[in-house]
Amino acid sequence: MQPILEIDGLSKHFQLHEQNKLIPSCANVHLQASAGQLTALIGPTGAGKSSVLKCVYRTYLPSSGRMLYRDGEGHRTDLAQASEHRMLALRQHDIGFVTQFLHCLPRRSALDVVCEPLVAQGMTHQTARKRARELLSLLNVPERLWGVPPATFSGGEKQRINLARGLIARPRLLLLDEPTASLDPTTTERVIELIHSIKTEGVAMLAIFHQTELVLRLADHVVELTPPLAVSDILETCTS
Ligand SMILES: Nc1ncnc2c1ncn2[C@@H]1O[C@H](COP(=O)(O)OP(=O)(O)O)[C@@H](O)[C@H]1O
Ligand SMILES: [Mg+2]
Repeated sequence: MQPILEIDGLSKHFQLHEQNKLIPSCANVHLQASAGQLTALIGPTGAGKSSVLKCVYRTYLPSSGRMLYRDGEGHRTDLAQASEHRMLALRQHDIGFVTQFLHCLPRRSALDVVCEPLVAQGMTHQTARKRARELLSLLNVPERLWGVPPATFSGGEKQRINLARGLIARPRLLLLDEPTASLDPTTTERVIELIHSIKTEGVAMLAIFHQTELVLRLADHVVELTPPLAVSDILETCTS
């Protein structure tokens, strides 16, 4: 079976013009993600794990490398080169992202924030809301919060909304950045069950977990990243 995503030699650095500095965020990353399998990214803080997911979703524009994405019709797109228009379409139908922090419009209710991906795909509000209610109860979000905008929620509550929003639709490729970092053990177990069932539905996942135990339980492939060397470090090594 062909992978859904193949990343080759992906690197990203940031240029700080004021200080004339290059900050590397991930360097020479190779990995694959396939339908029904989970690829886990591991490595210390600062190794560039989140940056890889952001490059795939094109929150960040990669500095070099290829990220070949294969869609349902077998067409291949290099996400490093794709137009903004193509990326918008892929985000709507193909690629989902549960980011580390919830970003949403301040005045939308939690229920509508969760429904949004389904409505964007053309589902009626009524059906989307029914699915959202089921998922919010599964993730232990108290019913009194469903009609309230998540802006004032606690970290754990926000994370549940973020997860529900990411897991409600079934993208072909799902990116997960520490999805259980601020959840209690019971909710974490429910999320693990959800991830298992999403896998059996054929979704490819690229995920970062902060507990090694979750990597052992969920990952089919593990890719280790090491922190990229800064240019100044390289110069120091050469001259010392
Ligand atoms: N938007 C950004 N601007 C400048 N530097 C960044 C940015 N995003 C990430 N970095 C740098 O890239 C490095 C890797 O960050 P990140 O991908 O968040 O690592 P990880 O998720 O493995 O902890 C960090 O040390 C940070 O300095
Ligand atoms: Mg991170």
